[in-house]
Amino acid sequence: MADYIDLNGAAQSFGDTDAQREVRANDRQYVFHSWSAQGAINPLPIAKGEGVRFWDYDGTEYLDFSSQLVNLNLGHQHPGLVAAIQEQAGRLATIQPAMANDVRGELAKRIVEHSFEGARSVFFTNGGADAVEYAVRMARHHTGRQKVLARYRSYHGSTGTAITLTGEPRRWANGTLDAGVVHFTGPYPYRSAFYAETPEQETERALAHLRQTIELEGPGTIAAIILESVTGTNGILVPPPGYLAGVRALCDEFGIMMICDEVMAGFGRTGHWFAFQAFDVAPDLVTFAKGVNSGYVPLGGVVISEAIHASFEERSFPGGLTYSGHPLACAAGVATFDIFEEEQILERVRDLGERVVRPRLEAMAAKHASVGEVRGTGLFWAIELVKNPETREPLIPFNAAGEAAAPFNAVVAACKSAGLWPFAAGNRLQVAPPLIISEADLIAGLDIIDAALDVADGYVAA
Ligand SMILES: Cc1ncc(COP(=O)(O)O)c(C=O)c1O
Repeated sequence: MADYIDLNGAAQSFGDTDAQREVRANDRQYVFHSWSAQGAINPLPIAKGEGVRFWDYDGTEYLDFSSQLVNLNLGHQHPGLVAAIQEQAGRLATIQPAMANDVRGELAKRIVEHSFEGARSVFFTNGGADAVEYAVRMARHHTGRQKVLARYRSYHGSTGTAITLTGEPRRWANGTLDAGVVHFTGPYPYRSAFYAETPEQETERALAHLRQTIELEGPGTIAAIILESVTGTNGILVPPPGYLAGVRALCDEFGIMMICDEVMAGFGRTGHWFAFQAFDVAPDLVTFAKGVNSGYVPLGGVVISEAIHASFEERSFPGGLTYSGHPLACAAGVATFDIFEEEQILERVRDLGERVVRPRLEAMAAKHASVGEVRGTGLFWAIELVKNPETREPLIPFNAAGEAAAPFNAVVAACKSAGLWPFAAGNRLQVAPPLIISEADLIAGLDIIDAALDVADGYVAA
C-alpha cells in the first residue's frame, strides 16, 4: 500500500525520496514564508495528513495538538468535507459575488441561525484578517465614528487595520497603519494588571479601566470595541464572570458596536458554535474564519446585526472581494454544519474538555513546579510555564527569541521528538487538537506533554 501520493498522482513510500528533495528545494528556492527571516528557516516537508495526524516524507508521524493554525477543527481529509468540495467543483466551481448562489446562501443562512439573536446577514471574506477589516469598516460607517478600541494580548490578523488592532509583538514592526486604533488592557487574573485577587475583582476593575478609556477617548468618537471572545494565541484567556456582559453594557451605554472576533474560538473550539454563546451576550458583529470549513478552502466572514445591515439598506456598502462567498469554500462550510451535527462535535468537545482535559491538566499543575497555571475551555487550553511558581516569573521573558527562548524551545522539542506537534506560544504550551480527536489520542497527547514538562521543571529556580 502506498504511504502517500505525490504531486503527479503516483504512489510513493516514505523514505529519503527524490520527491522530498524536490519539495524542500522548491520551497527554499521559491516560497516566501510568513513571519520569518527567509534564510533562517527550514520548513518541514509534509507528505500526508489524515484525521488528527500528519507525516513527513521520512514517515515520522505527528499527533497534531495545534490543529495546524487552530483551523483544522475536523481534522485532515475528512471524507464529508472532501466530498462536498469535489461535488461543488463538479457542479459550479466558482461564480462572482454579485450573483446569487445556492451554496453561498445556504451557508449564510446556517451561520445566521447559529450565531446570535438579532443576527441578520453574513458578508464573506477570504480569511480572518479581512473579516476584521470589514467588520471595522461596517461599524465605522454605521456609527459615523472612527476610533476602535482593542485589547493588548490580542491577535486580529496582519492586514492594515487588523495588525494595528493586534495587541502583541507581531504589530511592533508594522507601524500604526490605522490612526483610529486605541489599545486597552483586558482581564488576565493570573497576571492581573489591576492587582485583583479574585476573578470577580478582575472583572470589576478591568471594566472600570475600560470605562475610563472610553471616557478619556471621547465616547462619541468610538465606533467599536473589538475583542476575542476567548483570547487565542495570546494565552487562552477565558473572560472572568461578568466581563463580556460588562463590555456589552458599556457598548450599549455609549452607542459603541461590540465586535467579537471568533476567528480562532468559533466553530466548536470551546464547545459552542461561537465562544460568546457561553457568556449570554449578543454582539453587533462577529468575525469568523478557520473552523468554518477547517481551512480546506480559504473562507472567513462577518455576521452582521439587523441594525447594521439596515444601515446599508438604502446606501451602498463601500467594499467587496472577488472571492466573497466562493462556492468551493461555502460548500465545505455547509458540510461543516452537517458534520458537526452528525458527529455531535459540540457535545464531544464539552465532554472531552471537562472530563478528560481539565482534570489531567490540573493534575499536571499539581505535579510540575514549572506549571504556573492551566486554564481553558472545550478543546482550547493553555499550560503557562514559569521559572518561579512563587513570583510567577515566566519560564522565558516576554517575546524572547534565540538563547533567551532556549528553555521553552527544549520543552517544545521534547514534545516533537515524542511525536506530538504542540501549539506553542510565548511561555505556554497550548492544547488545541482537532475536535474529532478520540479520547485515546487525546490522552496519548496529554501523556507526551506531561513527560515534556519534566524538561520545563529542570529550569525551575531551586
Ligand atoms: C482571533 C484571530 N483573529 C484574526 C486572525 C487572522 O486570521 P487570518 O490569518 O485568516 O487572516 C487570527 C489568526 O490566527 C486570529 O486568531
